[in-house]
Amino acid sequence: MPASVLVGTQWGDEGKGKVTDLIATDFDLVCRYAGGANAGHTVIVGDTQLALHQIPSGIMYEGTTSLIGNGCIVDPAVVLDEMDTLESQGISCDDLKISGNAHIVMPYHKDLDGAHEKRLGKNLIGTTKRGVGPTYMDKMNRTGLRVQDMLDEKIFREKLEAALAYTNPTLELVYGLPTYTVDQICETYLGYAERIRPHICESSRLLNTALDEGKNVLFEGAQATMLDIDHGTYPFVTSSNCTAGGAVTGSGVGPTQIERVLGVAKAYLTRVGSGPFPTELPEGDYAGDLLGKVGHEFGVTTGRKRRCGWYDAVVVNYAARVNGLTDLAITKLDVLGCLEKIKVCVAYECDGVRYDTVPEHQSVFYHATPIYEEMDGWMCDISGIREFDQLPQEAKDYIELLEGLANTRVSIITVGPERDQTINRSWS
Ligand code: GDP
Ligand code: IMO
Ligand code: MG
Repeated sequence: MPASVLVGTQWGDEGKGKVTDLIATDFDLVCRYAGGANAGHTVIVGDTQLALHQIPSGIMYEGTTSLIGNGCIVDPAVVLDEMDTLESQGISCDDLKISGNAHIVMPYHKDLDGAHEKRLGKNLIGTTKRGVGPTYMDKMNRTGLRVQDMLDEKIFREKLEAALAYTNPTLELVYGLPTYTVDQICETYLGYAERIRPHICESSRLLNTALDEGKNVLFEGAQATMLDIDHGTYPFVTSSNCTAGGAVTGSGVGPTQIERVLGVAKAYLTRVGSGPFPTELPEGDYAGDLLGKVGHEFGVTTGRKRRCGWYDAVVVNYAARVNGLTDLAITKLDVLGCLEKIKVCVAYECDGVRYDTVPEHQSVFYHATPIYEEMDGWMCDISGIREFDQLPQEAKDYIELLEGLANTRVSIITVGPERDQTINRSWS
């Protein structure tokens, strides 16, 4: 298994952190390839519980190299803070690598993110305010600063001066915000640079050398298919290619290296932020409220309450197509143990037309009414089960239904947040 990709199939928070940590044992190197500190990946190992925003979840597995690839954006303050937290828990960050080509999140990117959201009013995206959109805007505009620029003060100052020449007027004249001076930013960022320096690498070379040596590489996706800038519910998306294709451009390996693509899907559905969500259950709905409560559905990055709804098989089937999934991991199956009846959306209806796939036009998706298949729940605690055959029949039926609808083998099922609360059906 030279290289595998792990990717979110819904709107994020599927449990990618837990599944990455779980399968990291099979890999020598774990690489994040897209997104920045907007991710919130929870990893629980024994008494240690961490929410990682920038550093790959593979860091928790001793002996695994962790790499932040060129497709990511890097907030140095967050990286250093996470390194300190990890080290204080006895987890070494000596083997953390950061691509020199990754773009840096600057303080003004965060200001612009917040100000733009405010300006959007009721049409806001509901971003994490981590500066993601504005940092990727600067990248695409070719006005961004990269991690490697931090290595040379002269270059850093020159590029920053050029960036501030147009960013300051935007801050001041468009949004009425305070501006920045080069010295002000240099003071903090050049301090970060000293600590970041030993970790900077050439992502493509590091990965391809590892692959040539027969090592196994896992690409850890952040965000998810429906938040992808090209394939998600635009404009209610993040600003990167979080789908499996992003693993190639976001790291510098060729597509032929990727053998397996593991999609992670929650056994029900959540979304944080704005945008369409056909199977959403309204506040006050018995099942929706229970899912939120039992599943502890609060954002790891922003603490916001996640919107909850039924599993949408149309979305996961779409994710199977867009990412070329070879395997599925179904997470949080234990949470459904509180419901007598469980619904699965198998298609949509809009203006009298049935849609078996995600509609091409966003306005159709917005107005889509789910067509459900209802199943009996199992109404018991399954968190101690480790073998598929020992699951209650209703839970087995549920998994087999999802498998058929996604046309993808369910290889992993998780039944609790801890590393060992897992059923490994066919992942090896
Ligand atoms: P990620 O962003 O995809 O890594 O997911 P998050 O960490 O944001 O959210 C998943 C949440 O569910 C975390 O609090 C996990 O500890 C928790 N979790 C993961 N797998 C399971 C599971 O099988 N059962 C339960 N009850 N919780 C889980
Ligand atoms: P993980 O990796 C869930 C959502 C935000 C917002 C939109 C754009 O933990 O699954 P951004 O700050 O990226 O510009 O926000 O995307 N979003 C996430 N939702 N999980 C995430 O990451 C997310 N990262 C971004 O809520 O709707
Ligand atoms: Mg998360």
